[in-house]
Amino acid sequence: VTVYVPRDSTALALGADEVALALREQAAARGADINVVRNGSHGMFWLEPLVEVATPQGRIAYGPVSEDDVAGLLDAGLLQGGAHPLRQGPTQEIPYLKRQERLTFARVGITDPVSLDDYLAHEGYAGLDRALSMSPEAIVQEVLDSGLRGRGGAAFPTGIKWKTVLGAQAAQKYVVCNADEGDSGTFSDRMIMEDDPYVLIEGMTIAGLAVGATQGYIYVRSEYPHAIAALNEAIAHAGSRGYLGADLLGSGRAFHLEVRKGAGAYVCGEETALLESLEGKRGIVRAKPPLPALQGLFGQPTVINNVISLATVPIVLARGAAFYRDYGMGRSRGTLPLQLAGNLKYGGLVEKAFGITLRELLFGYGGGAETDRPIRAVQVGGPLGAYLPESAFDTPIDYEAFAAIGAVLGHGGIVAFDDTVDMARQARYAMEFCALESCGKCTPCRIGSTRGVEVVDRIIANQNRPQQIHLLRDLCDLMLHGSLCAMGGMTPYPVLSALDHFPEDFGAPRDAQQ
Ligand code: NAI
Ligand code: SF4
Repeated sequence: VTVYVPRDSTALALGADEVALALREQAAARGADINVVRNGSHGMFWLEPLVEVATPQGRIAYGPVSEDDVAGLLDAGLLQGGAHPLRQGPTQEIPYLKRQERLTFARVGITDPVSLDDYLAHEGYAGLDRALSMSPEAIVQEVLDSGLRGRGGAAFPTGIKWKTVLGAQAAQKYVVCNADEGDSGTFSDRMIMEDDPYVLIEGMTIAGLAVGATQGYIYVRSEYPHAIAALNEAIAHAGSRGYLGADLLGSGRAFHLEVRKGAGAYVCGEETALLESLEGKRGIVRAKPPLPALQGLFGQPTVINNVISLATVPIVLARGAAFYRDYGMGRSRGTLPLQLAGNLKYGGLVEKAFGITLRELLFGYGGGAETDRPIRAVQVGGPLGAYLPESAFDTPIDYEAFAAIGAVLGHGGIVAFDDTVDMARQARYAMEFCALESCGKCTPCRIGSTRGVEVVDRIIANQNRPQQIHLLRDLCDLMLHGSLCAMGGMTPYPVLSALDHFPEDFGAPRDAQQ
């Protein structure tokens, strides 16, 4: 009997290793022959560790399972899919999962992440197979036609970026994957790397073929040791079977891939600081232009994309641009892996086509606040994203719709707060975060963030509030327009949105602030 116990770090943090061990030992003691597969997480974190059993009726889920539940589960006939209070039924029928549109995450939770055979058995490398039969121009056109936009947060069309690199003349080009996922409440990059590393490897290989790059690097934050281990294992397997290296599947074309570990600076997620760090230097933002697409790593033309953008390329190639583009709304095509976090009952990964509303995500999936209090504010798009009030909950998940309300979708992280949140403290936190993480290159961010903390402190202490609020808005305006990169340039988003939408937390009636 095959039993699945996830190896994703969310499950590990909740005792998955202990559960796997208890299952092996106690099944053996009962003379039962079981094969424990360490799969990825399905992304329903409140059910982790989620144990599944393969039955003739498909996989049956049990969760959340602790080490102490194992004996009772085996007594109840776990291995036959028997009844038990923790039984959740067929995994794919759980509404949270069933109502999703999993394209990028199609295999996540289903396969053994480091098994190349399992990957191949689940449509793996179908995209690369097709790409190997296409010209670079045709691959780039396919990605352009799919409508895929950068999932790191900026939503720049991936095909246009690739076209720029393809058109650049150079002896050496690079593909760099930005896996420095630093946004608060985000984990989709981590899940792909831990739970389906081959899809990222395949996407980068296709990118290499598309632009003429033979070397790739995955820059992973040091806080992700399990992702680094899974990637290295998968890269070794792929290389030993011709899916990476000097002669890709006998085609005579080359693509080499290596993992590099970051050292814990948020700003190294900014693409040019990342490239500096990759070159062995301190992570400081470079001025653009030149764009990395023309002068990137070691001064050479470089495709630099987020994990999710690259991991979406295989399905675009395998199923065709039209298949992917058919999902979504407006100029936001395809799906977005959203990450529900903060004060919600059902946190986890929800991949949906663009167009779903924030409200549906918060209540239809998230189940409302864990504390059973009203949700008062939601921060979308990481620590540099705007705070949204209840009146904005019907906004569809769409880059343009978010821009229209002065917000960003960013990397798809959604952090909910209940009505006990103090928005002045959140505004202070945004400025403090910027002060701590600023690379120091430009004045609005380096000095502005520190002054910002002081100004918010005076507002909180009720010292000459109207004047200080005016000063804070002025400072935000300067940071917004005068900063070199998004770190200083977007810190005003959370600050100004807190001021605009939650004026009562700044102690002044709304009119007095404008
Ligand atoms: P950007 O708008 O400057 O650039 C977007 C991308 O398009 C870059 O890779 C840029 O090099 C490329 N590009 C622009 N014009 C091009 C052209 N003509 N040809 C080829 N490539 C071109 O945005 P930036 O500063 O790279 O990213 C800001 C975003 O990052 C924010 O919106 C924020 O949401 C997000 N972010 C994400 C984090 C995460 O953990 N995923 C953390 C912090 C911020
Ligand atoms: Fe560095 Fe901040 Fe300026 Fe970005 S905005 S270049 S992080 S000082």
